[in-house]
Amino acid sequence: MAKVLVLYHSQEHGNTGLMAQAVAEGLREAGCEVALWNTNDGRFDAASFAQYDGAAFGSPDYYSYIAGGLKMFLDDHFILSVRQGMPGLTGKPYALFCSHGRGGRVKEVMPNLFRRIGTQVGDLVASQGRPSEQTLEQCRALGRALAAAAR
Ligand SMILES: Cc1cc2nc3c(=O)[nH]c(=O)nc-3n(C[C@H](O)[C@H](O)[C@H](O)COP(=O)(O)O)c2cc1C
Repeated sequence: MAKVLVLYHSQEHGNTGLMAQAVAEGLREAGCEVALWNTNDGRFDAASFAQYDGAAFGSPDYYSYIAGGLKMFLDDHFILSVRQGMPGLTGKPYALFCSHGRGGRVKEVMPNLFRRIGTQVGDLVASQGRPSEQTLEQCRALGRALAAAAR
């Protein structure tokens, strides 16, 4: 059974968290074991990323950039994989989602920021404010597509 990480930041309204739960539902529907981690609850141990077959990353738009907790993961991931040569941290399928208020450009910067992880699956799902049922279904579909790539 593929193990997939859903790593996200959600703090203000829980909007990104609702999207993360829906991505996780899609992954589980497709038979994956899922770990959910909100970086608002604490720093994710980037070394443990090696145990996952794929990942979904979700962030609110904070001033047209990702939230600090996710940036910390990317910084840790770079130091471990590039500077220290730790194996097993790259070459993975990954999916992206984001939540925003009235605009912001995080949806444009996320694909480039996460490219070191491996190969992006599907298109980034972006949502304004509280995610609609249609957006949540897009997140579930993204989870199912990621599951197919993580096998
Ligand atoms: C510090 C901060 C900066 C933000 N900057 C932007 C922004 O530049 N553009 C935008 O559309 N929304 C911005 N927002 C709104 C959030 O992206 C939006 O409320 C999001 O849905 C919050 O996700 P959450 O409920 O999962 O924390 C900002 C919110 C905060 C707290």
